[in-house]
Amino acid sequence: MTQAATPQATAARLERLFEKPAAQQRRCIIRAVDVKKVYRMGNTETQALRGASLDIFQGEYLSIMGPSGSGKSTLFNMIGGLSKPSSGKVYIDQVDIAQLDHNELAWLRCRKIGYIFQSYNLIQVMTCLENVTLPMSFAGLEGDEAREKGIAILKLVGLGHRVLHKPSELSGGQQQRCAIARALANSPEIVLADEPTANLDQKTGAEMIELLAKLKIELGVTIVSATHDLKMLKRSDRILWIADGRIVKTARPEEIDFNSGEFH
Ligand SMILES: Nc1ncnc2c1ncn2[C@@H]1O[C@H](COP(=O)(O)OP(=O)(O)OP(=O)(O)O)[C@@H](O)[C@H]1O
Ligand SMILES: [Mg+2]
Repeated sequence: MTQAATPQATAARLERLFEKPAAQQRRCIIRAVDVKKVYRMGNTETQALRGASLDIFQGEYLSIMGPSGSGKSTLFNMIGGLSKPSSGKVYIDQVDIAQLDHNELAWLRCRKIGYIFQSYNLIQVMTCLENVTLPMSFAGLEGDEAREKGIAILKLVGLGHRVLHKPSELSGGQQQRCAIARALANSPEIVLADEPTANLDQKTGAEMIELLAKLKIELGVTIVSATHDLKMLKRSDRILWIADGRIVKTARPEEIDFNSGEFH
């Protein structure tokens, strides 16, 4: 005869049974549903994304891996509201961004998301400080307050000594750091970073990874980053692989053998 379970044991079992997976308890901040993107140039069609679906949770540090041309930047453009999918849906904080009008989209891009572009996209005629304070002015922060915040952010990325330099007067790595500083200008909830350490030396790259990790841990910022940088992959909560426009695998860093050929 089996022994009757104690009320405590029953309660514990029920709790376990009905416990939501950790992922479900968190807020889904970005959701992509079957997102496809076709680029047409003359008679040539490129299927850059062939139906990408993913949920990204608030405070998550997600790394995206994939060979050149696999669709990483395209996915960034879609989930960042910079370009419209050919089909499928993107939700940010449960809002279908296709429903937003021009001004609402501009607000979202300015306040909620910080972008670190693969090609930096810094404004060449502006100084580092002006590049960083420009998005602040779109969000209504100007004058001394913006200046002070801009300098503080530039110091944070190690460019305190270059605030008045223009991008052409900076090294590639310094431009990348300036692009990271600009992405942080309006204290975004989400940072989309396209290969943010690609042009940085080991030490600066590691510092930038720590900075992004700190934003995640201390401020709950969601970080989504395309990267091949092992240090960044190891620091992330989840890694997602794209190949030929499709998400082919997701894994946590502890599930991965970083010594395998895939990473070398
Ligand atoms: N604006 C565009 N017009 C036409 N084709 C494009 C455009 N942008 C990207 N593509 C094509 O879409 C595919 C995916 O490009 P994407 O930039 O997303 O790749 P990626 O994974 O970011 O590559 P990389 O690692 O080199 O940055 C490529 O074949 C590319 O040539
Ligand atoms: Mg790219």
